[in-house]
Amino acid sequence: MTKPKVVFDPFSEEYFNDPFEMYRRMRDDAPIYYDEEQDFYAITRHADVAAALKDYESFSSSRGCDLAMVKSGDVPQKSIIFMDPPEHRHMRSLLNKAFTPRAVQSQKESVIEVIEKYLGAIKSDEFDLLQDFSGPFPVEVITRMAGVPEDYRQQVRHWIDTSLEREPGNIGWTEAGMKATIDSATYYYGLVQERRANPQDDMISRLIAAEIPCDDGQMRRLDDVEITGFVTLLGGAGAETVTKLLGNAAVIFARHPEQWQKLLDDRNKILDAVEELLRHAGPVQYNVRFTLKEAHLPSGTIPAGKPVFLMKAAANRDPRAFTDADTFDIDRDRSEAQNLGLGYGIHSCLGAALARMESSIALEYLLDFMPRYEVDFNGLKRVHMQNVSGYKSVPVKVLR
Ligand code: HEM
Repeated sequence: MTKPKVVFDPFSEEYFNDPFEMYRRMRDDAPIYYDEEQDFYAITRHADVAAALKDYESFSSSRGCDLAMVKSGDVPQKSIIFMDPPEHRHMRSLLNKAFTPRAVQSQKESVIEVIEKYLGAIKSDEFDLLQDFSGPFPVEVITRMAGVPEDYRQQVRHWIDTSLEREPGNIGWTEAGMKATIDSATYYYGLVQERRANPQDDMISRLIAAEIPCDDGQMRRLDDVEITGFVTLLGGAGAETVTKLLGNAAVIFARHPEQWQKLLDDRNKILDAVEELLRHAGPVQYNVRFTLKEAHLPSGTIPAGKPVFLMKAAANRDPRAFTDADTFDIDRDRSEAQNLGLGYGIHSCLGAALARMESSIALEYLLDFMPRYEVDFNGLKRVHMQNVSGYKSVPVKVLR
């Protein structure tokens, strides 16, 4: 009997609700998956995804990182994540300065303050971990760093949520998503112009003052559109992901209380737990690339001129790379294979140190705030978004 052909629809209910069975079948039966209807490819094995992430000459980011964008070739913003070398290299070396380990460490007090503010406001033993804590806190950290005034920090998150939301079966923005994208860009553009007139001690003002080399070696300043593009990306990259990682963490630890107990017994394991969460339940499922030429991967060849889903979350569960890949184990041997949860290669996460710091401090506080807790699994609500997965509601009850 022949097996039914695996179907990967990144905008289907089935995929949003549980992609892992689909990933297993794709890895086993269709490692170089081709979708005839939408004319895209998807790769899921660790060896292929890692190789593609390294091979930026074949797998370009310059047409965007989501399917609708890559297909249309219509990139809405100038943003580091949509650049190839050499432009990417210049931009990255400038932006790296804002995210050195020292610069990130200097945010520690601010991270603690924001975490304490949101946990301190929870007055009941029953609360929504997403809505009351892991949703509002990371966006506040990153927008503070950028220089967004307090009144707009949560608005940034609502704009991003709306712009990433997808209706099942529809690859592009919803109408509300389009409006949110325009509103957010208009807001940031105005803020950049305000800072140009009146610089402050914040990232937008430092980007206005910074210089970047051109291809001819001359130095130049960034324009308002470039700065707008970067701070818009920062809001999304810095807020959505940590939010979802922590929501996923609460659900996974509730399913594996023995792993939570390990952390209660030994806080030195928190960093390992963050790495394992990034591997086992990392929020970024994929980024899409565009093949500039015929691309050669361990599992086969992809023709030039095609959108390709680089499925990081599927690769991170590949048993060819990780022992008992589906098992959540904070003590696992991390030297087995590269964890792709924060990306890999030239576009690997610029905010990785910040992401790790925010997530580990948050876990530290949650261990004290809810040493014993349960999740109302029936009340969980998932997001339906392009490229990130996680929950929009995680009802939790602290057990006394
Ligand atoms: C758990 C949290 C996070 C996860 C899982 C995550 C994941 C990722 C991944 C997978 C990429 C690679 C994208 C690609 O290959 O196209 C990436 C890039 C990026 N991330 Fe993160 N991220 C997180 C937190 C953050 C934070 C807190 C920031 C804020 C500073 C940030 C800023 C960025 C930026 C600017 C890029 C683009 C880098 C480039 O194109 O060179 N991320 N992230």
